[in-house]
Amino acid sequence: MTSLALPPQALAAYPLSCSACGRPHASPRPAATCAECLGPLEVVYPADRVLPDREEIAGRPHTLWRYAEWLPFDGAPVAAHQVGWTPLLDAPRVAQALGVKRAWLKVDALSSVSLSFKDRVVATALNAVRAFGLEAIACASTGNLANAVAAAAAREGIPAWIFVPEDLEQAKLIGTLVHGPRLVRVRGTYDDVNRLCAQLADEFAWGIANVNLRAYYGEGSKTMAFEVAEQLGWRLPTAVVAPMAGGSLVTKLHKGFGEFLAADLVTGTPPRLYGAQASGCAPIVRAFARGDGAIVPERPATIARSLAIGNPADGRAATQVLRTSGGDAAHVEDDLIRAGIRELASLTGVFGETAAGVTYAAAKALAARGAFTPEDEVVLCITGHGLKTAESLAADLSTVPVIAPRVRDVAALT
Ligand SMILES: Cc1ncc(COP(=O)(O)O)c(C=O)c1O
Ligand SMILES: [Zn+2]
Repeated sequence: MTSLALPPQALAAYPLSCSACGRPHASPRPAATCAECLGPLEVVYPADRVLPDREEIAGRPHTLWRYAEWLPFDGAPVAAHQVGWTPLLDAPRVAQALGVKRAWLKVDALSSVSLSFKDRVVATALNAVRAFGLEAIACASTGNLANAVAAAAAREGIPAWIFVPEDLEQAKLIGTLVHGPRLVRVRGTYDDVNRLCAQLADEFAWGIANVNLRAYYGEGSKTMAFEVAEQLGWRLPTAVVAPMAGGSLVTKLHKGFGEFLAADLVTGTPPRLYGAQASGCAPIVRAFARGDGAIVPERPATIARSLAIGNPADGRAATQVLRTSGGDAAHVEDDLIRAGIRELASLTGVFGETAAGVTYAAAKALAARGAFTPEDEVVLCITGHGLKTAESLAADLSTVPVIAPRVRDVAALT
């Protein structure tokens, strides 16, 4: 493990306040929502903290902890293994397909160690578990969070309880189980699993990553925005397309770009943010289209299981950042998701999961309706690896010839 260029001291989590009613929480502790108004909680950073400049950040190890001043802890992080600093891949053929000047993929499909951007949110959630001295980490997951929690907990040697909907892809289940957590499949949708976990938070001294540690967990996603800005040479793209499930990632991308602008690490205007969902579960896109931001819960029916959250916790906030950034939202049918996975792979060499198919297909749909200009510089967030959802393309194998080991059998194919 790379040592961190931060002073060693006991780890403390910053306190929370309610972003709806503004009520502060006196001492930092796990909490899902505001006790007064049930509003969402956010981390309160010390106003007088000293922020690093570009040079100081550039000299730090290539993990997400290089941005520690924007992460919700005081002191050197524990569980600080090498999460973050995923490739930002130049994708000229994608730029051509979208009709824009430049396009890049932020390839969190190659995230260490569990091949999705959820390693970022688990890095902060696990530190919250440690800061609060909790006995176990838990989560409600559509699959990738399960993989990330199980892997990180195994490395730290702490117990993990992982709750998922029964019908997840095999690779997501096995890729969780292999690390030795208590994996529990729940008969129901993700929203049933999430409701169960909200009740469990009252019963057990667990840090449930996306429930009672949600305010700390979400901050990890900002590091994707920080890395994009730094990897572009300390500047911002004009547009970013990201998949949405609970709506946290897109909200935190907006926050991250805003924080780098406020710190004068970059100049210009925040990128327009575009949110992508599957048509079989698109409560955020539909709320955005209606214009009032009110989420109408849906019962998911899509191959994009990682995005199948029918009642997204940050759905309203997501519609607001899409709107204020000047962006838009699109949903795409399952056939277009499959085609999106194939086309992305064939244009870039990157095999993304179903969420990546959603992102790419939505970007194409947005381009077709004139969302982008020829001057745009667009980043697509590729948030998970295709091997995790390979069965979504299993039918493609029927097109592959099977031959005897004879030259004339190959010649017959040419
Ligand atoms: C691969 C992938 N991309 C994107 C998301 C969306 O994340 P959020 O819930 O922050 O909107 C998820 C959530 O599970 C995911 O697994
Ligand atoms: Zn409140």
